[in-house]
Amino acid sequence: MQGTFSHRFDSSMTATSLRRLGILTGGGDCPGLNAALRAVAKTALAHGVAPIGIEDGFEGLIGGRMRTLCENDLSGIIAFGGTVLGTSNKGDPFHFPVETGPGNIEIRDVSATVLDQLRAHQLDALVAIGGDGTMHIARKLGHLGVRVVGVPKTIDNDLAATDQTFGYDSAVAVVCEAIDRLNTTAAAHHRVMVVEVMGRYAGWIALGGGVAGGADVILMPEFAWGWPAVIAKVNERSARGKRYSIVCVAEGAKLPGHEEQIVQEIDLKRTDAKRLGGVGTVIAHEIERRSGHETRVTILGHLQRGGSPTAYDRQLATSLGAFAARCALEGRFGIMAALRGTEIVAVPIDDAVASLRTVPPAHPLVRAARDLGTCFGDQ
Ligand code: F6P
Repeated sequence: MQGTFSHRFDSSMTATSLRRLGILTGGGDCPGLNAALRAVAKTALAHGVAPIGIEDGFEGLIGGRMRTLCENDLSGIIAFGGTVLGTSNKGDPFHFPVETGPGNIEIRDVSATVLDQLRAHQLDALVAIGGDGTMHIARKLGHLGVRVVGVPKTIDNDLAATDQTFGYDSAVAVVCEAIDRLNTTAAAHHRVMVVEVMGRYAGWIALGGGVAGGADVILMPEFAWGWPAVIAKVNERSARGKRYSIVCVAEGAKLPGHEEQIVQEIDLKRTDAKRLGGVGTVIAHEIERRSGHETRVTILGHLQRGGSPTAYDRQLATSLGAFAARCALEGRFGIMAALRGTEIVAVPIDDAVASLRTVPPAHPLVRAARDLGTCFGDQ
């Protein structure tokens, strides 16, 4: 997909009397957050509106931690990963964890504090840059009367109502490079290399990274899979002289016969209490046991979230951020900036959180990979 996006604005919309625009980045970080917040803030500044950067997502909003952003805060940050505002995946104001004693956590609704802080800091509207957790919160705040616009980010690419989130392209580039590197060492040692990638309950990163890296097997949460197909693929390659294979597995892929993903940790303070991970290690062990081929596992983890955004993600984040700011300036709230084809459009936040966007079985990339002989473990 090219990085040139068109915006369609309704010129009949009248500008609001916006003076102070709050901006926050919520949930897990991803490459492109700085590009997005830079775009929101610069567009606001260009229209005489003060951009107010809120620290550490909704946690910072609840605590009233914010500062006015000026041109100098924004210049030079487009290339940086992370977020200069900081972020948190633990500050849902509607399920806010409060420590009431040693080891005791009580979940409270502190949304009234958010409304108080918005009033106290005279924020006329809020741009929330985040994934599905952030959009859920933004939607609920909208129902309380907060004038909010969403901007979709996440490496997982699992937000409904947008064709792509920024951060995904950068994560896929990391996976692709990792597989390229694993290929050479796998070939040298005649090994099976299992690479576990992120993505929570969606297989987009495994699919995109796996196809780009030429993985032989791709295992995702969307497809039930079995050991015989995986072992047959590895053996078939070996039998024709390719004595190594690459297996790209999403952290959310369920083991055959299991109803649930492997969970590393349950943390009730998180917006999503479950932290996934570890399935790659089990798969590597089983492949070695069942096939006799020496197998190793690499868990890419947060490498997929760190570092500079790709040029594509910078363009997408900039387009979505600028669009969101324009929506706020024109008084359009309760919406999320979204990519549809090559157009940036406004969609109701309700649509963005209605469901999780998972990989459809007949997705063109799945079909293409199957045509090439990639094994998804299901046939
Ligand atoms: O949602 C982004 C993501 O990186 C997921 O792919 C992953 O499951 C999760 O966040 C990891 O969260 P944390 O950074 O809290 O370990």
